Amino acid sequence: MIYLKTDEEIELLRENNILVSETLAEVGRHIAPGVTTKELDKIAEDFIRSHGAVPAFLGYEGYPASLCISVNEQIVHGIPSSKCVLKEGDIVSVDCGTFMKGFVGDSAYTFAVGEIAEEVRQLLDVTKEALYKGTAQAKAGNRVGDISAAVQEYAEHFGYGVVRELEGHGLGRKMHEDPGVPNYGARGRGPLLKEGMVICIEPMINMGTKAVVFERDGWTVRTKDRKPAAHFEFAVAIRKDGPDVLTDFSIIEKTLKN
Ligand code: MF3
Ligand code: CO
Repeated sequence: MIYLKTDEEIELLRENNILVSETLAEVGRHIAPGVTTKELDKIAEDFIRSHGAVPAFLGYEGYPASLCISVNEQIVHGIPSSKCVLKEGDIVSVDCGTFMKGFVGDSAYTFAVGEIAEEVRQLLDVTKEALYKGTAQAKAGNRVGDISAAVQEYAEHFGYGVVRELEGHGLGRKMHEDPGVPNYGARGRGPLLKEGMVICIEPMINMGTKAVVFERDGWTVRTKDRKPAAHFEFAVAIRKDGPDVLTDFSIIEKTLKN
Protein backbone atom coordinates (compact mmCIF):
# COMPACT_ATOMS: atom_id res chain seq x y z
CA MET A 1 0.00 0.00 0.00
CA ILE A 2 1.52 3.29 -1.12
CA TYR A 3 0.54 6.34 0.96
CA LEU A 4 0.47 9.62 -0.96
CA LYS A 5 1.44 12.66 1.13
CA THR A 6 -0.16 16.10 1.30
CA ASP A 7 1.97 19.23 0.96
CA GLU A 8 1.79 19.66 4.76
CA GLU A 9 2.99 16.10 5.34
CA ILE A 10 5.83 16.60 2.88
CA GLU A 11 6.96 19.65 4.91
CA LEU A 12 7.03 17.52 8.08
CA LEU A 13 9.10 14.94 6.23
CA ARG A 14 11.40 17.75 5.10
CA GLU A 15 11.83 18.95 8.70
CA ASN A 16 12.89 15.44 9.69
CA ASN A 17 15.22 15.00 6.76
CA ILE A 18 16.88 18.39 7.34
CA LEU A 19 17.46 17.36 10.95
CA VAL A 20 19.04 14.14 9.66
CA SER A 21 21.31 16.23 7.39
CA GLU A 22 22.29 18.43 10.35
CA THR A 23 22.96 15.35 12.46
CA LEU A 24 25.14 13.82 9.74
CA ALA A 25 27.03 17.14 9.48
CA GLU A 26 27.61 17.10 13.25
CA VAL A 27 28.81 13.48 13.08
CA GLY A 28 31.01 14.34 10.08
CA ARG A 29 32.70 17.14 12.04
CA HIS A 30 33.83 14.51 14.58
CA ILE A 31 35.07 11.91 12.10
CA ALA A 32 38.85 11.60 12.48
CA PRO A 33 41.49 8.95 13.12
CA GLY A 34 41.20 7.59 16.68
CA VAL A 35 37.48 8.23 17.11
CA THR A 36 35.27 5.21 17.82
CA THR A 37 31.99 4.59 16.06
CA LYS A 38 30.34 4.35 19.50
CA GLU A 39 31.39 7.95 20.21
CA LEU A 40 29.82 9.05 16.92
CA ASP A 41 26.59 7.28 17.83
CA LYS A 42 26.42 9.15 21.15
CA ILE A 43 26.99 12.49 19.40
CA ALA A 44 24.13 11.72 17.00
CA GLU A 45 21.72 10.56 19.70
CA ASP A 46 22.34 13.67 21.84
CA PHE A 47 22.01 15.94 18.80
CA ILE A 48 18.73 14.36 17.65
CA ARG A 49 17.16 14.46 21.13
CA SER A 50 18.29 18.04 21.75
CA HIS A 51 16.36 19.02 18.61
CA GLY A 52 13.10 17.52 19.83
CA ALA A 53 13.21 14.29 17.86
CA VAL A 54 13.99 10.67 18.69
CA PRO A 55 16.43 8.39 16.85
CA ALA A 56 14.26 6.35 14.49
CA PHE A 57 16.64 3.39 14.31
CA LEU A 58 17.01 2.83 18.06
CA GLY A 59 14.87 -0.20 18.93
CA TYR A 60 13.73 -0.69 15.32
CA GLU A 61 13.31 -4.46 15.07
CA GLY A 62 15.59 -4.57 18.09
CA TYR A 63 18.38 -2.47 16.54
CA PRO A 64 20.63 -1.33 19.44
CA ALA A 65 21.88 2.13 18.33
CA SER A 66 20.90 5.49 16.84
CA LEU A 67 23.13 5.24 13.77
CA CYS A 68 24.27 2.49 11.46
CA ILE A 69 28.01 2.99 10.95
CA SER A 70 29.64 0.81 8.32
CA VAL A 71 33.40 0.97 7.78
CA ASN A 72 35.27 0.00 4.57
CA GLU A 73 34.01 -3.46 3.48
CA GLN A 74 30.89 -3.06 5.62
CA ILE A 75 28.09 -1.94 3.32
CA VAL A 76 25.24 -1.08 5.71
CA HIS A 77 23.83 -1.73 9.20
CA GLY A 78 27.20 -1.75 11.00
CA ILE A 79 26.58 -1.48 14.76
CA PRO A 80 28.50 1.32 16.51
CA SER A 81 31.13 -0.10 18.84
CA SER A 82 33.76 1.15 21.28
CA LYS A 83 36.08 -1.40 19.66
CA CYS A 84 35.72 0.11 16.20
CA VAL A 85 38.39 2.84 16.02
CA LEU A 86 38.57 4.90 12.81
CA LYS A 87 41.92 5.27 11.08
CA GLU A 88 43.36 7.42 8.31
CA GLY A 89 42.28 6.12 4.88
CA ASP A 90 39.05 4.46 6.06
CA ILE A 91 35.66 5.23 4.59
CA VAL A 92 32.70 5.33 6.93
CA SER A 93 29.06 5.13 5.86
CA VAL A 94 26.78 6.78 8.40
CA ASP A 95 23.05 6.09 8.16
CA CYS A 96 20.74 8.16 10.37
CA GLY A 97 17.02 8.27 11.10
CA THR A 98 14.83 10.66 13.09
CA PHE A 99 11.23 10.63 14.21
CA MET A 100 9.28 13.77 15.13
CA LYS A 101 5.83 15.24 14.51
CA GLY A 102 4.60 11.84 13.36
CA PHE A 103 7.06 11.41 10.48
CA VAL A 104 10.45 9.85 9.79
CA GLY A 105 13.70 11.17 8.29
CA ASP A 106 16.24 8.72 6.82
CA SER A 107 19.50 9.46 5.04
CA ALA A 108 23.06 8.16 4.69
CA TYR A 109 26.41 9.62 3.67
CA THR A 110 29.81 7.99 3.20
CA PHE A 111 32.67 10.01 4.69
CA ALA A 112 36.43 9.77 4.18
CA VAL A 113 38.69 9.56 7.23
CA GLY A 114 41.58 11.88 6.35
CA GLU A 115 43.23 11.12 3.01
CA ILE A 116 41.82 8.16 1.07
CA ALA A 117 43.10 6.30 -1.98
CA GLU A 118 42.13 7.79 -5.34
CA GLU A 119 40.21 4.66 -6.37
CA VAL A 120 38.19 4.82 -3.15
CA ARG A 121 37.44 8.51 -3.73
CA GLN A 122 36.05 7.50 -7.13
CA LEU A 123 33.80 4.88 -5.50
CA LEU A 124 32.32 7.58 -3.24
CA ASP A 125 31.88 10.06 -6.08
CA VAL A 126 30.25 7.49 -8.37
CA THR A 127 27.88 6.19 -5.68
CA LYS A 128 26.69 9.72 -4.90
CA GLU A 129 26.34 10.51 -8.60
CA ALA A 130 24.33 7.27 -9.06
CA LEU A 131 21.94 8.59 -6.40
CA TYR A 132 21.56 11.82 -8.39
CA LYS A 133 21.03 9.90 -11.67
CA GLY A 134 18.26 7.92 -9.99
CA THR A 135 16.74 11.06 -8.49
CA ALA A 136 16.46 12.69 -11.93
CA GLN A 137 14.06 9.85 -12.86
CA ALA A 138 11.85 10.40 -9.78
CA LYS A 139 8.97 12.12 -11.51
CA ALA A 140 5.26 11.46 -11.90
CA GLY A 141 4.51 9.15 -14.82
CA ASN A 142 7.84 7.33 -14.58
CA ARG A 143 8.13 3.96 -12.88
CA VAL A 144 10.36 2.77 -10.05
CA GLY A 145 12.32 0.77 -12.63
CA ASP A 146 13.40 4.03 -14.31
CA ILE A 147 15.13 5.03 -11.06
CA SER A 148 16.60 1.57 -10.55
CA ALA A 149 17.97 1.30 -14.08
CA ALA A 150 19.56 4.76 -13.92
CA VAL A 151 21.41 3.88 -10.70
CA GLN A 152 22.51 0.47 -11.94
CA GLU A 153 23.65 1.63 -15.36
CA TYR A 154 25.78 4.45 -13.96
CA ALA A 155 27.47 2.31 -11.28
CA GLU A 156 28.10 -0.67 -13.56
CA HIS A 157 29.68 1.60 -16.16
CA PHE A 158 32.58 1.91 -13.69
CA GLY A 159 32.73 -1.87 -13.17
CA TYR A 160 31.25 -1.69 -9.67
CA GLY A 161 28.99 -4.27 -8.02
CA VAL A 162 25.41 -3.16 -7.35
CA VAL A 163 24.02 -4.76 -4.19
CA ARG A 164 20.84 -6.76 -4.82
CA GLU A 165 19.80 -7.83 -1.34
CA LEU A 166 18.84 -4.38 0.00
CA GLU A 167 16.85 -1.52 -1.50
CA GLY A 168 15.33 1.91 -1.02
CA HIS A 169 11.76 2.37 0.15
CA GLY A 170 8.79 4.66 0.65
CA LEU A 171 9.11 7.04 3.61
CA GLY A 172 6.38 8.55 5.75
CA ARG A 173 4.91 7.88 9.18
CA LYS A 174 6.89 4.64 8.97
CA MET A 175 10.54 4.26 7.96
CA HIS A 176 9.82 1.50 5.48
CA GLU A 177 6.74 2.00 3.34
CA ASP A 178 5.90 0.78 -0.14
CA PRO A 179 7.19 0.84 -2.79
CA GLY A 180 10.56 -0.89 -2.57
CA VAL A 181 13.15 0.98 -4.65
CA PRO A 182 15.81 -1.45 -5.92
CA ASN A 183 19.15 -0.20 -7.23
CA TYR A 184 18.94 -2.49 -10.25
CA GLY A 185 16.15 -3.15 -12.70
CA ALA A 186 14.54 -2.37 -16.02
CA ARG A 187 13.23 0.92 -17.35
CA GLY A 188 9.45 1.14 -17.63
CA ARG A 189 8.88 -1.62 -15.03
CA GLY A 190 7.65 -1.54 -11.46
CA PRO A 191 5.19 0.71 -9.61
CA LEU A 192 4.06 3.95 -11.24
CA LEU A 193 5.42 7.12 -9.59
CA LYS A 194 2.70 9.57 -8.59
CA GLU A 195 2.60 13.08 -7.21
CA GLY A 196 2.70 12.93 -3.39
CA MET A 197 4.88 9.83 -3.15
CA VAL A 198 7.97 10.14 -0.95
CA ILE A 199 10.77 7.62 -1.41
CA CYS A 200 14.29 7.02 -0.16
CA ILE A 201 16.74 6.22 -2.93
CA GLU A 202 19.84 4.55 -1.52
CA PRO A 203 22.48 3.04 -3.79
CA MET A 204 24.79 0.57 -2.04
CA ILE A 205 27.72 0.14 -4.41
CA ASN A 206 30.70 -2.22 -4.05
CA MET A 207 34.10 -1.60 -5.56
CA GLY A 208 34.35 -5.32 -6.41
CA THR A 209 31.79 -8.12 -6.45
CA LYS A 210 28.12 -7.40 -5.83
CA ALA A 211 27.99 -10.46 -3.53
CA VAL A 212 27.38 -9.76 0.15
CA VAL A 213 27.71 -11.58 3.47
CA PHE A 214 25.27 -11.11 6.38
CA GLU A 215 27.40 -11.15 9.52
CA ARG A 216 26.47 -13.25 12.52
CA ASP A 217 25.75 -10.17 14.67
CA GLY A 218 22.38 -10.22 12.91
CA TRP A 219 22.83 -6.76 11.33
CA THR A 220 26.10 -5.98 9.57
CA VAL A 221 26.17 -6.56 5.82
CA ARG A 222 29.62 -6.63 4.18
CA THR A 223 31.13 -7.30 0.77
CA LYS A 224 32.00 -10.94 0.11
CA ASP A 225 35.42 -10.01 -1.28
CA ARG A 226 36.06 -7.47 1.54
CA LYS A 227 36.66 -4.66 -0.93
CA PRO A 228 35.14 -1.31 0.10
CA ALA A 229 31.51 -0.28 -0.38
CA ALA A 230 29.73 3.08 -0.34
CA HIS A 231 26.18 4.09 0.59
CA PHE A 232 24.42 7.37 -0.06
CA GLU A 233 20.74 7.85 0.70
CA PHE A 234 18.23 10.65 0.70
CA ALA A 235 14.49 11.27 0.61
CA VAL A 236 12.73 12.57 -2.48
CA ALA A 237 9.14 13.75 -2.89
CA ILE A 238 7.49 13.37 -6.30
CA ARG A 239 5.98 16.81 -7.02
CA LYS A 240 4.11 18.41 -9.90
CA ASP A 241 7.27 20.09 -11.12
CA GLY A 242 9.62 17.13 -10.61
CA PRO A 243 11.74 15.57 -7.85
CA ASP A 244 11.91 17.55 -4.58
CA VAL A 245 14.87 16.36 -2.49
CA LEU A 246 13.89 16.67 1.18
CA THR A 247 17.40 16.02 2.47
CA ASP A 248 20.20 18.59 2.08
CA PHE A 249 23.68 17.17 1.51
CA SER A 250 25.07 20.71 1.23
CA ILE A 251 24.62 21.03 5.02
CA ILE A 252 27.00 18.08 5.36
CA GLU A 253 29.37 19.05 2.60
CA LYS A 254 30.06 22.58 3.77
CA THR A 255 31.64 21.01 6.89
CA LEU A 256 33.97 18.73 4.90
CA LYS A 257 37.60 19.60 4.43
CA ASN A 258 38.31 17.06 1.69
N1 MF3 B 1 18.33 3.48 7.07
C1 MF3 B 1 18.08 2.09 6.85
C2 MF3 B 1 17.22 1.99 5.64
O1 MF3 B 1 17.29 2.82 4.83
C3 MF3 B 1 17.45 1.43 8.00
C4 MF3 B 1 18.32 1.25 9.15
S1 MF3 B 1 18.02 -0.25 9.85
C5 MF3 B 1 17.82 0.03 11.46
O2 MF3 B 1 16.46 1.11 5.45
F1 MF3 B 1 17.46 -1.07 12.01
F2 MF3 B 1 18.92 0.48 11.95
F3 MF3 B 1 16.89 0.92 11.65
CO1 CO C 1 16.54 3.97 4.06
